[in-house]
Amino acid sequence: MSITHESELEGMKKISEAVAITLSKMRAYAQPGMSTKELDEFGGAILTAFGARSAPLLTYGFPGWTCISTNNEVAHGIPSEHKILKEGDLVNIDVSAELGGFWSDNGGSFVLGSDTQKHGHLVESSKDILYKAISNIRGGIRISEIGHLIEKEAKKAGLTVIRNLVGHGVGRSLHEAPNEIPCYYDRFNRTRFKKNSVVAIETFISTGAKYAVEKGDGWTYITNDGSFVAQHEHTIVVTDDVPMILTADNGIWN
Ligand code: CO
Ligand code: CO
Repeated sequence: MSITHESELEGMKKISEAVAITLSKMRAYAQPGMSTKELDEFGGAILTAFGARSAPLLTYGFPGWTCISTNNEVAHGIPSEHKILKEGDLVNIDVSAELGGFWSDNGGSFVLGSDTQKHGHLVESSKDILYKAISNIRGGIRISEIGHLIEKEAKKAGLTVIRNLVGHGVGRSLHEAPNEIPCYYDRFNRTRFKKNSVVAIETFISTGAKYAVEKGDGWTYITNDGSFVAQHEHTIVVTDDVPMILTADNGIWN
């Protein structure tokens, strides 16, 4: 969406605070021995207290309030009572929701407890790359230029990017134009970021894979080559200067 009125910015700030605080609290609540279902129910209760409704549930009938992906899962992991979190797991939580007709999206990967599987470099790189990407977005900048930056930074860190999971416009629905904000340089994409537009920028940084594949349960994306992926995501408003980060309260850069 494009912000044309102060009330629209207020609406976006409200839902963005709700998804950001939900993500931050879920991350703090996650413990070894806990099922991803229990973690999701905790997040669902926070969203509900804000008066917000789960975006993937509302839009796609997703079987959960939030997406929780672990280890070789990249995105859209289904919360399950049978999936028990362990020390050293690579965990991704993605929270998107609607409130009063406004939609916001954010997510982040982290290592649960001590980093026994050595995911630290991947997670830190993904955070840094998202920060650099967002810091460089301005009205008029080509989407492909930011994809190029993400791809170059990943390569510098000895990592790759996932090509078939992308950022997107957001605001009046979960996914809207621009439909594709990729993590790589697409020379055919001549679309530019527009001032006052609301977009969800997300990095999908990998230790090797270039594509995530759907597992066969209708939702979950995984890597099938033993590599791992970290994702970090903020919903922002594009300006003439550095973007306004609507989901800053999620603390993913801390
Ligand atoms: Co998104
Ligand atoms: Co998301």
